[in-house]
Amino acid sequence: MYTAPNLVLPRVENLSSLDVYLKHGGFDAYRRAIHLSTDEVIDEVKRSGLRGRGGACFPTGLKWSFMPKSTDKPKYLAINGDESEPGSFKDRQIFEYNPHQLIEGILIASYAMGISKSFIYIRGEYHKWVRLMEDALAEAYAKGYVGSGMKQTFGNDYTTDIVVHKGAGAYICGEETSLMSSLEGDRGYPRFKPPFPANKGLWGMPTTINNVETLAAIPPIMMLGGDAYAQIGAKGHSGTILYGVSGHINNPAVFELPTGLLLTDLIYNYCNGIPNNKRIKAVIPGGSSMPPLRGDEIEGVRLDEESLKVLGTHIGTAGVMVMDEDTDIVAVTLRIAKFYHHESCGQCTPCREGCGWMEKILHRIQDGDATSGDIDLLYDVASNIEGNTICALGDAAAWPVKGFIEKFRDEFEVLCKPQRSFVALNVVHGKRSTASTLVRQA
Ligand SMILES: Cc1cc2nc3c(=O)[nH]c(=O)nc-3n(C[C@H](O)[C@H](O)[C@H](O)COP(=O)(O)O)c2cc1C
Ligand code: SF4
Repeated sequence: MYTAPNLVLPRVENLSSLDVYLKHGGFDAYRRAIHLSTDEVIDEVKRSGLRGRGGACFPTGLKWSFMPKSTDKPKYLAINGDESEPGSFKDRQIFEYNPHQLIEGILIASYAMGISKSFIYIRGEYHKWVRLMEDALAEAYAKGYVGSGMKQTFGNDYTTDIVVHKGAGAYICGEETSLMSSLEGDRGYPRFKPPFPANKGLWGMPTTINNVETLAAIPPIMMLGGDAYAQIGAKGHSGTILYGVSGHINNPAVFELPTGLLLTDLIYNYCNGIPNNKRIKAVIPGGSSMPPLRGDEIEGVRLDEESLKVLGTHIGTAGVMVMDEDTDIVAVTLRIAKFYHHESCGQCTPCREGCGWMEKILHRIQDGDATSGDIDLLYDVASNIEGNTICALGDAAAWPVKGFIEKFRDEFEVLCKPQRSFVALNVVHGKRSTASTLVRQA
């Protein structure tokens, strides 16, 4: 088992207190960063190979380099702590156990991009974590680590502000353009891209959106150096990552481990296997929006984006959802579809109507009222949502439905009637009818 020290969630008691954080090297990374040029900081992050931990795996250094260099407009950073994807519960660990490292990561990112103000957008239901983050930020302000006090603390001219913003409890507000609408005080509707946030973001100003875990990984990158960080974990998707494991597992928890870990290692060594030693039927590797893997194909699977992409799925938010042999796959698919239907903002027709239809067809299948043609219809509806919407919630809704049908079609078939028309006529006439009698009777 992996024993190297954790980088994002170090095992230090009371690390959420600023004094303890400072005793353990807190803000040394920021001090190091401000002695480099802004381009050098961005270059270090590029060389680290860090990819965003919010689900899309976009290279962080590259994203930062899209921000304009000009200083004539305010520039903003939005920190995405909406964390509403079912199966994802890792950012709250950072809010609770290492909030100052997140603040330090925000300062480094802000320095590198010339940010004047940052907004930590936290999921509406996360009352406890909003409070903890506000407390940590108040402590950092009071001791001169954020805001105007920074000049004196760090001895250079750069200052920036950070505020905590509580969301109103909508999953869609985690989508970056919707998050910006929500921050501006509007309804959380996603926006078309382009224009991209780096050109036209919050209040029309250049903006970068990064996930909480992404920014908490920045101080260790500055301390280790980008090249050394790139050696950790999988090639092409480096670093440690917070795996949140849930479902039919003996030890459900968040584990900070290198990317590229064997899925079986995570399940059997870190999570102590499956209750009652049952077999695994399915695993979703990255939160509910990702296509599943079958239990019989998880041997040798590595948990990083490049390895999972080859298998038709993604690391997403590394929310690993484990389902044992007794799991009702149709019920799981229906539950997931219901979630995305409920959370669709309704702006685009394929998502608004398609999510509703997927839920209806799945109900029909579960109730035993469907034929196998309905499974094809369901697959077709999902395929027509995918790639045809303003934001990726449409894909998030379509992928698990398509994935479960592709991998577990037999579980859908078993609930379906062979031919709805024959059965109906059998009931009416008490004998088997042909298609031609059907047409005549119509
Ligand atoms: C429907 C939807 C919900 C999302 N929810 C979150 C979220 O809760 N947290 C998050 O960091 N990213 C979420 N994302 C991804 C963001 O749009 C964006 O890619 C991410 O915050 C960028 O940060 P990163 O580059 O550091 O990963 C969501 C995307 C979609 C389409
Ligand atoms: S894909 Fe769905 S959630 Fe996204 S903008 Fe369209 S309707 Fe709204």
